[in-house]
Amino acid sequence: MKKISVVVFLVISLFSCYKPKTSPPQEIKGALGEKAMVATTHPLATAVGLKIMKKGGNAIDAAIAIQFVLSVVYPQAGNIGGGGFAVIRLSDGEVSTLDFREKAPEMAEKDMYLDPEGNVVKAKIRLGHLASGVPGSVAGMWELHQKYGQLSWSELINPAIKLAYNGHLLTEKIAQSLNEQHNNFQEANRYQPWVVNEKGWNKGDTAVQKELASTLSFIQKNGRDGFYKGIVADQLIKEMILGGGIISAKDLINYEPVWRDPIKGFYKGYTIYSMAPPSSGGIALIQLLKGSEYLNIGNLEFNSAEMLHYKTEVERRVYADRAVHLGDPDYYEIPTEALINRNYNNIRFSNIKKRKKTASSKVMEGDVTPYESPETTHFSIVDPEGNAVALTTTLNGSYGSRVMVKGAGFFLNNEMDDFSAKPGVPNIYGLIGSKANAIAPGKRMLSSMTPTIVEKESSLFLVTGSPGGATIITTVFQSIINIIDFGMGLQEAINAKKTHSQWLPDILFIENGGISPEVQLDLEKRGHSIIFKESMSKINAVLVLEDGSLEGGADYLRSDSYAEGF
Ligand code: DON
Repeated sequence: MKKISVVVFLVISLFSCYKPKTSPPQEIKGALGEKAMVATTHPLATAVGLKIMKKGGNAIDAAIAIQFVLSVVYPQAGNIGGGGFAVIRLSDGEVSTLDFREKAPEMAEKDMYLDPEGNVVKAKIRLGHLASGVPGSVAGMWELHQKYGQLSWSELINPAIKLAYNGHLLTEKIAQSLNEQHNNFQEANRYQPWVVNEKGWNKGDTAVQKELASTLSFIQKNGRDGFYKGIVADQLIKEMILGGGIISAKDLINYEPVWRDPIKGFYKGYTIYSMAPPSSGGIALIQLLKGSEYLNIGNLEFNSAEMLHYKTEVERRVYADRAVHLGDPDYYEIPTEALINRNYNNIRFSNIKKRKKTASSKVMEGDVTPYESPETTHFSIVDPEGNAVALTTTLNGSYGSRVMVKGAGFFLNNEMDDFSAKPGVPNIYGLIGSKANAIAPGKRMLSSMTPTIVEKESSLFLVTGSPGGATIITTVFQSIINIIDFGMGLQEAINAKKTHSQWLPDILFIENGGISPEVQLDLEKRGHSIIFKESMSKINAVLVLEDGSLEGGADYLRSDSYAEGF
């Protein structure tokens, strides 16, 4: 990273000062497009997605190119050192879902993060080399390309290489987030990666990432082997050995993404397709929708005390189920059918009282600091043929383990914290777990990522998803009911204030300004403990409008996100 000459600056500016065609952010209308739409967390990534489709690439090609671009321009969550999930709906209605979630290394052990007294050592599971699972992103993109790619692999990685090599301008939010992590970057690394800047980063500084460009070139040339074998793998293993991590060469070679059956559910005539375990997102989302239907939440006044009381009571029960029943299906038998069954859920929600919050049967203290600098990123794409992709990807925390692989220029995830390191002990998102999500070699840690596609009368209706750790599920839930039940347009649904609860910690989180003092008082009378938060959720979504054209919604209020179509 360095300041560069005026000539190079002009070249970079061509990429970095990309001028949007329509002017966001709109209060209640998103971007409009006749045929195609991209909504991502960074204008440069959105621009690349559009360009790929204009060249004849499909939504999956665009998704692959965007994933690699985000690893350059959005290093806190865009990644090649992390993992994620993709939900794909082809224009003929075929739906498939790809799990490219990280896995525990073979050397992982159930109690590896416990100290001699049996306490979870948070620093070990969240920061530094031991925090990382085996990355899945590059294998995931390769698999998507093998199955659906139209343009060449090389062409899809070019934009990311150019941006890494030539540099791009930092946005204010990213400069700020790099500054916030300054000490963590120093603590996690044995050397000074480019992100460490003693003078501090400012908006408009240029990020040149030559090492990352060369890593991406290996991947461009050699496909998935460019990451899991050869020089990049060697650099990663060396990083592990010198930094005390346990990911081995065998772990890398053996990593495979998995095609899984989508979780499919119905809500008021709409069909929902979302991610199956090892993400909890799909099952929990269907449960939330069943609860919403059972209690008629959509008929109540939006964010009134009654609506929020019922919504919270449903959420608490769904997250309690998540804590006990969900984990990696390759290691633990998940009662999926039961959990998404209408009768099961009707019984589950039947003890919800109108005026009083149900006491948590066991009082366990959730960690109320779970919301420190989390970062994940979601993007939604529809191409001119009508193919759609919802893809959520993450390093887990902001910049993951904060370890940047020396010489290779990319961050490794700290996804091991998504396991239940000890039953009942909350992770960074305050989520607790049990046997189902205990650490085991080769196992995938439970996720909340909820990339989702909704159909109306068998046609594509909504492509949605969000970052936000535990809040992802409730955010996606709200994006759906805001539109279907509360009559909001897409952008309005994204802008709307969000609320969240998850059983433990026993708290109802509400975005600042989300409710009136009267509603607050009413909720408190019903027994809810409320904590207000600055911001929850960053939905990037695409809605098919009545005339078949597309609305792209991005969270302009809470992020740098940007949607555009053509
Ligand atoms: O997989 C999960 O559920 C978490 N690792 C996601 C982390 C996340 O969303 C951070 N976000 N803002």
